[in-house]
Amino acid sequence: MTIIAHISDLHVSENSFDEEVFMEAVSEINKLQPDMIILTGDITDNGYYREYKQAIKYLDMFESPLFAVPGNHDSRNLGNQSFEDLVGERSWKLTKDGDFTVIGLDSSSPDEDRGYIGLPQHLWMEHQLDNCVIDERFSIVALHHHIISIPETGRERNVLSDAGDVLKTITTHEVDLVLSGHKHVPNIWKINNTVIVNAGSLCSKKLRGKNRNSYNVYIIDDKEIEIFLNNVGGEKFLFGKYQRKY
Ligand SMILES: [Fe+2]
Ligand SMILES: [Fe+2]
Repeated sequence: MTIIAHISDLHVSENSFDEEVFMEAVSEINKLQPDMIILTGDITDNGYYREYKQAIKYLDMFESPLFAVPGNHDSRNLGNQSFEDLVGERSWKLTKDGDFTVIGLDSSSPDEDRGYIGLPQHLWMEHQLDNCVIDERFSIVALHHHIISIPETGRERNVLSDAGDVLKTITTHEVDLVLSGHKHVPNIWKINNTVIVNAGSLCSKKLRGKNRNSYNVYIIDDKEIEIFLNNVGGEKFLFGKYQRKY
């Protein structure tokens, strides 16, 4: 069994970040002892170097291995370079125990809010996913921007500009899970054999309507994937349950 915590949209900054909520989330997630934490971007609010330095101190409080991709806010003000300096590669692949691959994509562009994967990164992802299909490996793709519109988020603006192509590659390769953030609203879509999950904002004050700060937890065993929506300091419930194909 594998436990993954999916966090997103911390927005570390003077004004948008709620430290009290963050500390509560850290203590909840550390108690869960997930095998890994996947962070789908907007770690900082403005991409400033000082925000990244502060963010690293916060991220170090997590006891599980953490893997992050950048969001649109992280690529402001040369934040794309600061991300590489202080967090790590902006796109990456990891394989766990030979049966489980996570692909992290950079959907951000410097000083732009739109999401875009682009051909070189797309071809690289496709190659990785070909290998997952050949080896019958459980596959996860993580990126900041949503690839399908999320309900109750107002006017659509920043869905990936190459969403159609990404969606085609992901569904034809039957990627098991796609993890995104950006809209600060949790959601699940299922298309063919792919479950596409959005996380809410872990600890930013930028919340829509009655949405609360939250994170997702995935419990993956040989047969199924259970997805829990955990409100920080509040209700935790089963958000979705799906059979595994392999
Ligand atoms: Fe955000
Ligand atoms: Fe964002």
